[in-house]
Amino acid sequence: MSPIECFHSLEALSAAAAKALARLAQEAIATRGRFTLALSGGETPRTLYEVLARDYRDAIDWQHVHLFWGDERYVPHDAPASNCRMAKESLIDRIPIPEVNVHPIPTSFSNPEDAAKAYAKALTPAIPLDLILLGLGEDGHTASLFPGTFDPEDERLAIVTHAPKPPITRISMTLRAMNAARNVFFLVSGEEKREILDRVLADRDGKYPASWVAPLGKLTWFVDEAAQTQ
Ligand code: 6PG
Repeated sequence: MSPIECFHSLEALSAAAAKALARLAQEAIATRGRFTLALSGGETPRTLYEVLARDYRDAIDWQHVHLFWGDERYVPHDAPASNCRMAKESLIDRIPIPEVNVHPIPTSFSNPEDAAKAYAKALTPAIPLDLILLGLGEDGHTASLFPGTFDPEDERLAIVTHAPKPPITRISMTLRAMNAARNVFFLVSGEEKREILDRVLADRDGKYPASWVAPLGKLTWFVDEAAQTQ
């Protein structure tokens, strides 16, 4: 059973995740010369990104960090729904990371399949990633792998998927890329996640994409009290 760390608030959850992330970064840079990190989209990780920018601007050697994304909505990077935009606003524009170390999922190809192929090529040299941050959707999705349509055996590293609500077209890392990782953090916050968190942790039938995340390395759940069954 993967460790579940429970915190009284999103702020406390984010502070603990930032501290654990910084430790992994320091270890990876010391032993392998770089730290490869895949960011999650959605809203939950925004607080973590703000904590990293505020409290770890100098404590992490960003020159040796490479940023990727677990998924992206197929919109321009300056669109309000863009995961890249959210990370730029809350983290990237506020830390000394070289632009060449930031590897956004491309969304400018006319054919999204070409974007997925280009991103899989960019990801390849970074596999296994040192850390992947993931969120949990209320339907049990993670990144942009959705129940009923995801293929746990997909050999590709990145694929086009279609969300049940807009923005429909997405690019997502596959379970193959996720489960090769040295570390995965799930960040789950809010009462609206309580039921799905229980279902995913009890899921023995592989109904939910999040249930299939079982990295070769270590999986840690960072949850707040609102999301945790009493
Ligand atoms: C996205 C995310 C998605 C997210 C979950 C949880 O692009 O939206 O990758 O998988 O992590 O939907 O989102 P919240 O953190 O906003 O609840």
